[in-house]
Amino acid sequence: MNKILDGKKTSLRIKEEIKIKVDKLISEGHRPPHLAAILVGEDGASLTYVTNKVLSCKQVGFKSSLIRLPESISEDELLKEIKKLNVSEEIDGFIVQLPLPNHIDDEKVLLSISADKDVDGFHPENFGRMALNMESFIPATPFGIIELLERYNIDLNGKDTVIIGRSNIVGRPISILLSRKTKIGNSTVTVVHSRTKKLEFYTKNADIIVSALGVPGFLKGDMVKDGVIIVDVGITRVKDSSKKKGYAIKGDVDFDSVYEKASYITPVPGGVGPMTIASLLLNTLKAHKKSIA
Ligand code: GUN
Repeated sequence: MNKILDGKKTSLRIKEEIKIKVDKLISEGHRPPHLAAILVGEDGASLTYVTNKVLSCKQVGFKSSLIRLPESISEDELLKEIKKLNVSEEIDGFIVQLPLPNHIDDEKVLLSISADKDVDGFHPENFGRMALNMESFIPATPFGIIELLERYNIDLNGKDTVIIGRSNIVGRPISILLSRKTKIGNSTVTVVHSRTKKLEFYTKNADIIVSALGVPGFLKGDMVKDGVIIVDVGITRVKDSSKKKGYAIKGDVDFDSVYEKASYITPVPGGVGPMTIASLLLNTLKAHKKSIA
């Protein structure tokens, strides 16, 4: 049996589906969906992620704009850039890539983004609506995880789910989503984190584990039970001189030892990462639909 939850293949299928919808929109006389991304500073990993997002827009026929701003930009200047995007009739949705430099208050920035264009789903209005099971933008990584589980017909109903990590971007939202009374939900969710005593007690009893910790190889085979379903959100750069770039991308899961016991597992790379980008495109398509309605 193939145990791999293949995010790369699934994301390509989603992109094909999006492309068909975009072609139809254009044939009906609409302009293509347009995603903008603001990147502050020169962080290499952030630049790679944003570049991938912009390239993916091209693949599905979206317009995209990358707005690069210097590390030294003031908070006020950044807020002015966001205001421009909020009112632009050309742009359906936009993201501000995180992390931001220390002198900029993330919370102020996220609050300044119009909830209708917040395709990252980070604004409290969208986050609250998501928690209440109302129509909203769902943050791209959790959304991608749900899409992947759904397309592999994974049944979570009544299962015990453990989320490792409680970040606002992944751990917290996915914990809410997987306990909701919805098709890919209805599971009993426990969130474990850096202060959890006996973390292994929870992971060993879990039917599904979503790990979003950022510690390479953290989850080992002896920490999980037979048949577990594993979703690995980790994407840490680890020095590797055998690679052209000088680093390899590693997940939170010690793949070989956990693979033995798992019934399904996402690889890194090629698992959650590409699904995150596909979900951002789905959110942008949704924002475009709202803007032409
Ligand atoms: N940094 C890491 N993940 C994300 C994401 O999903 N969106 C944004 N804006 N920044 C990030």
